[in-house]
Amino acid sequence: MTRQDYLALVDELTEHDRRYYVEADPTISDGEYDKLNKQLLEIEKHHPDWIVEWSPTQRIGHAPVSEFAKVTRPVAMLSLDNTYNEDDLRAFYDRVVKGLDGDVPVFSVEPKIDGFGIELTYKKGQLTLGATRGDGRIGEDVTANVKSVKGVALKLREPIDLVVRGEIYMTKAEFDAINAERAKHGEELFKNPRNTAAGSIKQQDPREVAKRPMRTILYEVVDGERYASGHFASLALLKQLGIPTSAHNSRAQSWEELIAQVHSWADRRDSLPYEVDGLVVKVDDFAMRTALGTTSKFPKWAIAYKFPARQVTTILREIEINIGRTGAVTPVAILDPVDVSGTTVARASLHNWDQVARLGLRIGDRVTIQKAGEIIPEILNVTVSAEGELIVPPTVCPFCKSELEREEGRVVLLCPNRIGCPAQRLGAIEFFAGRGQMNIDGLGEKLVEQLVEAGLISDIGDLFTLTVNKLLGLDRFGKLSAENLIKAIAKAKSAATFSKLLGSLGITNVGSTLAQVIANKYRKLSTLRAAAADKSSEALIAELNDIDKVGNTIATHVDKFLRDPHVAKVLDKLAAHGLDPEEPITVVTEGPLTGKLLVVTGTLTQPRADVQKRIEAAGGKVAGSVTKKTTYLVAGADTGKTKLEAAEKNGVKVITEEELEALFQS
Ligand code: IVH
Repeated sequence: MTRQDYLALVDELTEHDRRYYVEADPTISDGEYDKLNKQLLEIEKHHPDWIVEWSPTQRIGHAPVSEFAKVTRPVAMLSLDNTYNEDDLRAFYDRVVKGLDGDVPVFSVEPKIDGFGIELTYKKGQLTLGATRGDGRIGEDVTANVKSVKGVALKLREPIDLVVRGEIYMTKAEFDAINAERAKHGEELFKNPRNTAAGSIKQQDPREVAKRPMRTILYEVVDGERYASGHFASLALLKQLGIPTSAHNSRAQSWEELIAQVHSWADRRDSLPYEVDGLVVKVDDFAMRTALGTTSKFPKWAIAYKFPARQVTTILREIEINIGRTGAVTPVAILDPVDVSGTTVARASLHNWDQVARLGLRIGDRVTIQKAGEIIPEILNVTVSAEGELIVPPTVCPFCKSELEREEGRVVLLCPNRIGCPAQRLGAIEFFAGRGQMNIDGLGEKLVEQLVEAGLISDIGDLFTLTVNKLLGLDRFGKLSAENLIKAIAKAKSAATFSKLLGSLGITNVGSTLAQVIANKYRKLSTLRAAAADKSSEALIAELNDIDKVGNTIATHVDKFLRDPHVAKVLDKLAAHGLDPEEPITVVTEGPLTGKLLVVTGTLTQPRADVQKRIEAAGGKVAGSVTKKTTYLVAGADTGKTKLEAAEKNGVKVITEEELEALFQS
């Protein structure tokens, strides 16, 4: 075995890839291919210094990146103008013909693949860059991920320089298979092939990307006139070079031919293995394209003709109740699976309970559903009504049995039992640990999920049972990160005040200000809980209601929260771990801000609750909206226009966070 033999084997496998992905006409069986591939791996294991970048084995295995590098491209990646009906398509045709002084060009009519736009750069025939569209001019370097997509040629059959654009997509069958697998494991389903492909390409770990079966089709050569006189010829060149192109592009040389092609797609559209959301009509001749030119956004020589949304009917079998991170309880329709434009639909979004009422849904109804491109299907109407009762919203949470609440004037139904509700577990823990609440450094969404999945925690009370040793058992968790997390939890615990703790529990509508006034009265969580235990709901609500700023709604939320048995269990755990901090007495003294009324807004460098506390400690008062009485508006980054306008109208001085610091010192 010589290096020459090795290179020949690389070329042989590359050629088989081309036969398979470009020609769709393989000359060897899968088994024979696998054998060659194994042989290649074996050689590379013994001669790692021989490995070339274009070896088919180099598609996967790159290390994850934390951020994609930005790439600025000389030729902006434009998007296409859309039309939705034949009249508009005719208008495009007329504009083109007029722009060419009456010449009727050859058009290419091609399927508009519903995937993720990509640009590939080849230098001397070797793939050097794969970039996303981004804002058109600046995209992201996703080369490592793109390489893992089967069909992306790593090395062309000729050593030429070339930039091509195309689409990365997932076939409908592969999408359905992934979702079926996810359903089996109780994982959240992907919405559609397009989002899945896009999400996969933007994954930061190429090894994960390699697990998502994706394909590619390239449809435009950048600066095509350098290689050919027209589009069809340039695509033929791509194919020759080993780049996959669409086998479904056709020529039209008159309006009649063009519209006949468009009509022919009404039936063909579903027969393609990938989703097609319309057609792209392009002028073939490159000189004509140049003559027609572009607007700032679109080429004038091409247009997208979008297919109308697909509607089918099916039977409504069940209403599944979902609960979001904020406690919103929403209905999802479970349907008899039907095929809509080639993907299987078994669920439809119902948005909220008002929509269920508006549609007048009953179990067993035959309903019309619509799927428009990237949107999750929705129920349009009831086609044949079933007998039986109308579906009504639940009154108790199906997960924790808490009584549901509907806020006045809002359509959402809420489960108020945030920390006690198993369905809200992740959101509640994440909120508790977040900035402005307990501030547990480094404990974000991903880590919370990992801890819950590993069975280490199931609520906020369990956070305080974690140890370095327990964390070391986790995937990708080193000693240092384990120690840091334990330290962060201990730090949060020792820094906690009762008001901080209370505000971190996620009681509906109880943020830092209300937590503060309640904490001022009860001083400790145990005292507040004892008050709830000793008194009737009525008496406790009345007592809370007496506190300045606490109204009946808030008092009721707090009462309900404390009486929920699931919440009680979690709060017992906190107590067992000694988390019952006392609220420090804030003596209102004369300070630099005595008599001043401040409004704090925008993003600050420290949690807003802390800033408010310091203002109060300095003798000032904090309000939520700007009025004539306001002394200063403290404006952080991205302060809203409304607040600034109100300040101007009322003659209120606007100051920065640094200026506020100066006031504290004065
Ligand atoms: S040509 C300047 N051809 O549709 C012309 N685009 O809405 C560039 N697309 O960004 C695009 N199939 O991601 C072209 N056969 C096709 C296409 C296609 C899908 C996508 C592409 C583009 C978007 C425009």
